Amino acid sequence: MSSERVAAIVLAAGKGTRMKSERPKVLHRVAGRTLIRYVLDALARLSPARTILVLAPDMEAVAQEAAGTPVAIQPAPLGTGHAALAAYPALADLIAGDRIDDVLVVFGDTPLLATATLAAMVEGRRRAPEAGIVVLGMRPAEPGAYGRLVCGKDGMLEAIVEAKDATAAQRRIGLCNSGVMAIDARQLGALLAAIGTDNAKGEYYLTDIVAVARARGLPCRVVEAPLDELVGVNSRADLAEAEAIMQRRLRAAAMEGGATLTDPATVFLSADTVIGRDVTIGPFVNFGPGVAIANGVEIRAFCDIAGARIADGAIVGPFARLRPGTEIGADAHVGNFVEIKQAVIGRGAKANHLSYIGDAEIGAAANIGAGTITCNYDGFSKTLTRIGEGAFIGSNTVLVAPVTVGTGAYIAAGSAITRDVADDALAIGRAQQIDKPGRAKIIRKMKTAEKLARQKKVQG
Ligand code: UD1
Ligand code: MG
Repeated sequence: MSSERVAAIVLAAGKGTRMKSERPKVLHRVAGRTLIRYVLDALARLSPARTILVLAPDMEAVAQEAAGTPVAIQPAPLGTGHAALAAYPALADLIAGDRIDDVLVVFGDTPLLATATLAAMVEGRRRAPEAGIVVLGMRPAEPGAYGRLVCGKDGMLEAIVEAKDATAAQRRIGLCNSGVMAIDARQLGALLAAIGTDNAKGEYYLTDIVAVARARGLPCRVVEAPLDELVGVNSRADLAEAEAIMQRRLRAAAMEGGATLTDPATVFLSADTVIGRDVTIGPFVNFGPGVAIANGVEIRAFCDIAGARIADGAIVGPFARLRPGTEIGADAHVGNFVEIKQAVIGRGAKANHLSYIGDAEIGAAANIGAGTITCNYDGFSKTLTRIGEGAFIGSNTVLVAPVTVGTGAYIAAGSAITRDVADDALAIGRAQQIDKPGRAKIIRKMKTAEKLARQKKVQG
């Protein structure tokens, strides 16, 4: 999908006061990705000639998140029309050089918008009779505070009226403004300049641009899109709604791609989760960012996985936690109550119960016994544990890093390993067992006699 004669303006300078947050609204996340990233990605797939992001002066963090996108600063939040005007000079050369036909204006707080919808708007504007403006419309169950789209008998758009400025009759209109517009690039400058502040909020409303265009004889039209693309995030409740919609989309895509989700509603994915074919994901599994799962993998119930790569045929969980930097080799098994961080687990290796493996390299087919712990941190720095191919680490072993266990080596259960172990060696790092024949019987007799003496004393 490529529309090179299109430029875009993304408005994100608003305060977002309804979020009650220290963080700029567009840096809040849905499925692990910021709102602004979704909008910029949806636009990027359209290959516009240029995208300008409009920010307030104190939004350095947003500029960083959008790195590479040119920014225009709106000095004060005087309304959406004022914000769009702030971006105009950054597009003036494209317009003067006749290099674009359309300018898309998109809000930074509308993360679910699809590229196909943006393309349909551009196509809708160019269709004869060519329109000055196309507005993306929607029909929410409760139109509430949304601007209403006032259409003429011919179905063409006449004006957008903000709810606060609408008459009772206008407020009954179900067709609402989503905020997205496609505007004839050649008209943009003059239309924006003509917007005033004669309204309930005393702001420059971008929505007034439609009445301005109509007054100049330019036809305007509405393109409609499904509601679940147009949720505008203004509050935490909206954020949760956007998250729910995005999760439904991601789960559907995972299943479409050949994964079985036993109970999809309890699986939480990130926007970037990659899932192969014939993957089975049990109930209550959470994927943070940066997870890639190859084919034939089984993720059992109650796992938390982030920043991990899992190769073909591996089995993970139930109750496993994989943290960033984890690489699980093909056919490896990671079982219950195992936490892995910054570690490579070789092909066919097993860590099935109650372990912490951090900053480690575990060779192919190695067996990590229950309760094995890598001591990777001394309070100052992290150090590496290396375990060779086919090594066998007995239960309840403590591996004090930096330490290397050779290929095929055995570690006796209950060992504290503080030195390197050679290939094929057996290391036993625990106190010697001492046996005292008959001693238990003597102790029992002694203790019983003491108890009887105490009882007598109390009665006497
Ligand atoms: C706006 C529309 C309304 C529409 C609704 C859809 C106007 C006047 N109203 O209302 O018709 O139904 O969106 O969600 O356009 N922004 C700036 N600078 C400003 C003000 C806002 O950059 O001075 C940005 C915000 O960061 C935000 C976007 O513009 O990304 C929309 O602003 P918001 O305050 O959310 O507008 P709504 O009240 O939702
Ligand atoms: Mg809004």
